[in-house]
Amino acid sequence: MAKKSVNEYYLMHKDIPVCLMEISNDGTLGKYRKNNSAIEHFPLGGQMNDMKFHDWWKDRAIPKTRHGAKTALQRLGYASTNCALVDNLALSLSDCYWIKPRGADLTWNDVNLFTNDFVDTFGEITINQDHLIDIRKKTRFNCATSQGELQKKWCIDDTGRRYMVKGNYGESYQQSLNELFATELHMQQGYSNYTKYTLTKLSVEGDMEGIGCLSYDFCSENIECISAWELLQTTKLKQNESYFYPLKKVCMDIGMTEQAFHEFMDYQIMTDYLISNTDRHMNNIAIMRNPDTLELLGFAPIYDSGNSMFYNVPYEKLDSVKLDDIKTHSFVERECKLLSYVKNRNAVDLNKAQVSFDIYTNDIYERQIRIPKLKAKYEQKLARLSAFQAGKDIWKARKF
Ligand SMILES: Nc1ncnc2c1ncn2[C@@H]1O[C@H](COP(=O)(O)OP(=O)(O)O)[C@@H](O)[C@H]1O
Ligand SMILES: [Mg+2]
Repeated sequence: MAKKSVNEYYLMHKDIPVCLMEISNDGTLGKYRKNNSAIEHFPLGGQMNDMKFHDWWKDRAIPKTRHGAKTALQRLGYASTNCALVDNLALSLSDCYWIKPRGADLTWNDVNLFTNDFVDTFGEITINQDHLIDIRKKTRFNCATSQGELQKKWCIDDTGRRYMVKGNYGESYQQSLNELFATELHMQQGYSNYTKYTLTKLSVEGDMEGIGCLSYDFCSENIECISAWELLQTTKLKQNESYFYPLKKVCMDIGMTEQAFHEFMDYQIMTDYLISNTDRHMNNIAIMRNPDTLELLGFAPIYDSGNSMFYNVPYEKLDSVKLDDIKTHSFVERECKLLSYVKNRNAVDLNKAQVSFDIYTNDIYERQIRIPKLKAKYEQKLARLSAFQAGKDIWKARKF
């Protein structure tokens, strides 16, 4: 085994060093010393104690469980996603943190991925495992770190804009198509704070042409994101407590108004309910702030609505889904109970929710027979939400 060596890096927030840390060649964080004169720039998620900061660092790497990560690591010669993180200076396209080797003469201008070229070879391999990719065609950076399990890659378009391409789990394209379905719903609603997804072609297993989705970066050098999960690390939580009110408190502590919090949540909870999004966990909600002034800018535009519309329910089981029993990964376990957090039941206009199902005709042939069933389920959800808007507390209808 290779000998363990340790190197020193500054954790940087743009050009502000926030701490000096020891990182071993396998990417693990050892001792670190905070720069007390810039303590407000230290990552929020790591402020409470040592363990939290170690977790913040670990969470920064691409999850080991990312589809295709194993192949990408092998092909690029990294021992782990932590090694890839360090080799790419922990740069991301969602915030302005990075690491600078001690003694190196580098600035944010020299390295940041918002303005410097990169080729996300790591991401490309996760999306496109069978395809021959010339890994010699490499810029200084071959990976931008990001969260989530689905294969994804960051790219740069002709005009220099950064965008993310996401694939799907398994053979169907439904997760990508769902992102477009959600996009269409938000568009009809005339709501503005959502991430717009479009379809894109990509190669899937066997070097076949498949479908993924694409969204432009909602962050920039002047806007960075912090997940709800990270925000929650700044507060003590009671065991089994729902994250809803702690999150509200943290958001208000950093400058959000109570009204802004509820307006966003009301809309997101009700639209998620309509599309049966079962994955609004704390990494799928984020706030945005100005990385220079640290001023809160509000919630990040609604993103990651792919795990919805019964994407993981096989055709034969669709009829037996009980809409009042749907389980979700969010503030509470039971989907319809999330509606109990809604303050303004009219935050969604049900007259503007007749979304076309044509998008699902892009799925693989066998999957298209699902369309009438998905439509029927959506209609049932609309009827329930309509009853909710008329005053019925639908989660109370029966005991769980
Ligand atoms: N358009 C975007 N702009 C900036 N950051 C994004 C964008 N889309 C996703 N992200 C970041 O990447 C992470 C993973 O993306 P997500 O869509 O949630 O993928 P997954 O479906 O694998 O969870 C998000 O949690 C968010 O931090
Ligand atoms: Mg996600």
